[in-house]
Amino acid sequence: MKEQPDRNLALELVRVTEMAAIAAARYQGRGDKNAVDQAAVDAMRHMLSTVDMDGIVIIGEGEKDEAPMLYNGEVVGNGHLPKVDVAVDPVDGTRLTAQGQPGALAVLALAERGSMYAPGKLVYMDKIAVGEEAAGVIDIEAPVAHNLDRVAKAKGKSISDLTAVILDRPRNQEYMRAVRTAGARIALIGDGDISGAISTAKRDSGIDILVGIGGSPEAVTAACAMASLRGEIQCKLWPRDDAERDWATNEGLDLDQVITMRDLVNSDHTFFAATGVTTGALLQGVEFFGDRVETHSVVMRSASGTVRFVEAVHRADRLYGSGIPGVRPR
Ligand code: FBP
Repeated sequence: MKEQPDRNLALELVRVTEMAAIAAARYQGRGDKNAVDQAAVDAMRHMLSTVDMDGIVIIGEGEKDEAPMLYNGEVVGNGHLPKVDVAVDPVDGTRLTAQGQPGALAVLALAERGSMYAPGKLVYMDKIAVGEEAAGVIDIEAPVAHNLDRVAKAKGKSISDLTAVILDRPRNQEYMRAVRTAGARIALIGDGDISGAISTAKRDSGIDILVGIGGSPEAVTAACAMASLRGEIQCKLWPRDDAERDWATNEGLDLDQVITMRDLVNSDHTFFAATGVTTGALLQGVEFFGDRVETHSVVMRSASGTVRFVEAVHRADRLYGSGIPGVRPR
């Protein structure tokens, strides 16, 4: 048992996201977002209780949904060392899964105790993220055109060769307009900006930059991955209304502060694991066969910078007899 999370944890985390993804994938295309989420939460919670760690959920199902499980502050793991902060997103892309659309992931991240940013009631952040080649050249306070120019130069491309991934929301219209005006291309995503941020750091993804307003929990979780990928994410809190603005003021939060990767997760020992629920740019989704179930995952550890892609074949008889909630055919 060690104080600091060590490398053995990485594969433990993949086992957790694999089961969450399998449980969620059972509900693919059934139009029921809550069923997708519940199935993944049940499986993830069950699996987390077997992991050697003394974890506290900092980024949980939380504020937006007032969830009864995997809520912020819940203690997870089997209670052994190391002490860690935990970020869960049993499905990033519940709507995508419910609608049978690409790009949903089951996600889990962890880092040393006390290192993760807790966004509280402010559920949205303005974000910018890039991969390793452009890390250090972006500035969330600068105009979009300036950032595109810096990224293009860092990557030896012209702005018209760049593709920016943006969450398709009315609040991000201004970003879409700015990217178009600058002459870059856009990849709009319906949901799933953790995957969007990570894709900026994946060489063959065709994505160069993420801009726009998305979930705060997803920013912290993505930062745990970007630390391993040597990419960069910067954010600013984005209150939706005066009530959220007042709450931030009462909490002493500075809405003008640029929230750096270090602010999001102040640790040199971050872990990130994700398993594809539906097939997307980053990972293939869960595939069901008569006698087996196949999953595709990625797991990263910032201390070593190792990024592993894990393809797993789960024997159906063992899986269905395992007692893990949600993994049996319904
Ligand atoms: P969930 O599937 O976990 O609900 O999140 C999907 C997501 O698209 C995130 O990737 C993103 O950060 C957030 O929702 C955006 O929030 P909203 O859908 O409220 O605009």
